[in-house]
Amino acid sequence: MPFVLKVRKEDAERIRRKLVRKKLLASQWKIVVDGDYIYFPLKRKIDGSLYMDLPQRNRRKTPYERVKELVTESLSRELEIPDYWEKIGDVLLLPPFKGYRKHGKIVGEAFSRILKVKTVAIYHGVKGELREPEIEMIYGNDTTTVHVENGIKYALDISRIMFSSGNVEERIRMGKIDASGDVVVDMFAGIGYFTLPIAKYGGAEKIYACEKNPLAFHYLLKNLEINDVENVYPLLGDNRDVAPRKIAERVILGYVHTEKFLDRGIECLKEEGGIIHYHDTFTSEEKDWLPEEIIKTNAKRYGFKVEILYKRVIKSYAPHIWHIVVDAKLTPKN
Ligand SMILES: C[S@@+](CC[C@H](N)C(=O)[O-])C[C@H]1O[C@@H](n2cnc3c(N)ncnc32)[C@H](O)[C@@H]1O
Repeated sequence: MPFVLKVRKEDAERIRRKLVRKKLLASQWKIVVDGDYIYFPLKRKIDGSLYMDLPQRNRRKTPYERVKELVTESLSRELEIPDYWEKIGDVLLLPPFKGYRKHGKIVGEAFSRILKVKTVAIYHGVKGELREPEIEMIYGNDTTTVHVENGIKYALDISRIMFSSGNVEERIRMGKIDASGDVVVDMFAGIGYFTLPIAKYGGAEKIYACEKNPLAFHYLLKNLEINDVENVYPLLGDNRDVAPRKIAERVILGYVHTEKFLDRGIECLKEEGGIIHYHDTFTSEEKDWLPEEIIKTNAKRYGFKVEILYKRVIKSYAPHIWHIVVDAKLTPKN
């Protein structure tokens, strides 16, 4: 019988990721859904866990175990290989691991066979203003792919354009927002991460999608086409130059170091105000108060008062640094 963590459904995906990251999820029992709750089997007791029975799994080897077997066969010895990865379309990103320069091809080939991907690369993170990824190929060489998520196709080149798996819930949430009849400005559109779900499912009348990086812009145009989206007006350039003013009911600021763009985002709102989806990264000490403080201070300068409609940690960005989103409603003070 395992220790079990009982969580509410709406928290389940976030907690599942955390359990996987901390290697706490036990694979020999099933995850059980019951009403509003999900029960996760654990490898050991943690705070708040219960000791209870869950149905056993019919144990099949995990993809990780199968890859490990193939690698051990090829090298005639064991090698520590990553037990987590990001699959974006048919391209796989692995974290750097000891020996990847020497044995990368063998490991990459094993992952490619088991996970049915054409290319495997080592992912070192994103850098710079344009959030460009740093990767090293270990198997295959085609880095262009089409990732399908929530019924939306995202074409991209993973060697040049980032795709954050950790933002999946936020992309899905953007598709659930009722933006009926709204004019939206997406200040950091990228390849359409948030623009596409709002355009496809949210009922927005028009979305102005600003993107500075010509390659990301190229994929944004392609993605509008392959998703049959017609209510988007893509704007190539720095959002501070190209974003239209006094036009929107809704503005998305999906970036990091976003504070310096917030005033320009507020300028996109109609005079009667609207909603800002404000993203940024904050330390553990800052995250409970600073996002609201920043929005209120900036809004005040434009004569708006602020109501916080929603706030959530999207993901851990670095140790003690959190990616936060806040939905704030700005309305004129009088
Ligand atoms: C990669 S996205 C951020 C991640 C995205 N929100 C997600 O869900 O994964 C940020 C985009 O903003 C673009 N960008 C950065 N600064 C910009 C600016 N001043 N104006 C317009 N686009 C900008 C970058 O080129 C990049 O494509």
